[in-house]
Amino acid sequence: MARKLAAGNWKMNGTTAALAEVAALTAAIGDATCEVLLCPPATLISRMADMAQGSHLMVGGQTCHPNGSGAHTGDISAAMLADAGATHVILGHSERRADHGETDEAVAAQAGAAIEAGLIAVICVGETEAERDADVTLNVVSSQLAGSVPEGTDLSHVVIAYEPVWAIGTGRTPTLEQIAEVHDHMRADLAERFGNGAHDIPLLYGGSVKPSNAAEIFAVSNVDGALVGGASLKAADFSGIVSTLSAA
Ligand code: PGA
Repeated sequence: MARKLAAGNWKMNGTTAALAEVAALTAAIGDATCEVLLCPPATLISRMADMAQGSHLMVGGQTCHPNGSGAHTGDISAAMLADAGATHVILGHSERRADHGETDEAVAAQAGAAIEAGLIAVICVGETEAERDADVTLNVVSSQLAGSVPEGTDLSHVVIAYEPVWAIGTGRTPTLEQIAEVHDHMRADLAERFGNGAHDIPLLYGGSVKPSNAAEIFAVSNVDGALVGGASLKAADFSGIVSTLSAA
């Protein structure tokens, strides 16, 4: 059985004032039975990690460079994230793939570096609306998975997030049948490639998850948690999702 994980992605949101939400969140998730992760902008990682000490909350980055150090202005290495207090890093989010042209190959290199640095790689995949309309969702997800999860990897350091691009930040979600179809397909793909160990990889759903739809999504086969954008910015919303996952 895979671990259950509620992960929040703050994206490019949050300055010092937003840390008030972290204090409220750590207080609210004291009895959570699932793992809880927040990935703030890099500027807040170290302070958030300090605030999370002794609580249930883990802190992660939103991307990393495949190299450990060097002449890469503006980039951050996996070791730097770990040094700042991160335990996880989101990789290959569709916004990184779209805004920065990140390919599956680049994501696999980042994931390799992240795992090497001791981080857990939260690797994102998902189809565009045009791909769903063209009925190629399963092919797209399979090929992103095959290309983005590195060979010879320590599976205990891998989490997969299925995020249909058209469901991110739109308030629209796939049907529960569509989520089940993709998650079952991902599990089978990973099992074919990695064997039994694949059953322990948490498979998250992401895209317009909120407290009001979390319970039905968490009841779907092979959904082990969520990657949450907008609804992770407010402690009240995110802690509602955490308690729903704890009860699932
Ligand atoms: P959303 O974002 O929850 O705001 O749709 C999800 C994500 O991009 O991870």
